[in-house]
Amino acid sequence: MRRIAVVPGSFDPVTLGHIDVIERAANLFDELHVVVVHNPDKTALLPIAQRVSLIQDAVKQAGIEGEILVTSWSVGLLVDYCTDVGASVLIKGIRSQIDVAYETPMAIVNRDLAGVETVFLLPDPAHAHVSSSLVRQVASLGGDVAPYVPKVVADFLQSDR
Ligand code: PNS
Repeated sequence: MRRIAVVPGSFDPVTLGHIDVIERAANLFDELHVVVVHNPDKTALLPIAQRVSLIQDAVKQAGIEGEILVTSWSVGLLVDYCTDVGASVLIKGIRSQIDVAYETPMAIVNRDLAGVETVFLLPDPAHAHVSSSLVRQVASLGGDVAPYVPKVVADFLQSDR
């Protein structure tokens, strides 16, 4: 049976922690869909299409092997996307107990809604302190984000845009 998994998130922007999780997930599943979802609780830095494009470039730059599709989803529930593409698993990266507390209710609701299971993956602890919101803040105040994001993202954020 072909195993398809979805890695959802805001990815605003994609970080080295996200790339680490995407690589681990690509090693576990036959096909991976990295799906950029608008999170209304967060103030966006980058347009969705730009986030998709940066993830595509970062995945290529990292040399991650496997069938990886990068796309976005804005029409309704994330589990509807999973059902549409035949994905039975959602992947979430867990950095700390705070992530577990945030992700657990969503995982249970997604299972209740459509039988989609959530798999929690642990990124390299070297990335445990890295978050997109921190990167957004450092970038907006003119700081160097190179240690936290793929090179393509650092170059983009430090360009004139
Ligand atoms: O990177 P983020 O912002 O933590 O990602 C959160 C995201 C986008 C994965 C989450 O907000 C989400 O799943 N949104 C889709 C809307 C949905 O299906 N909600 C109901 C079940 S949780």
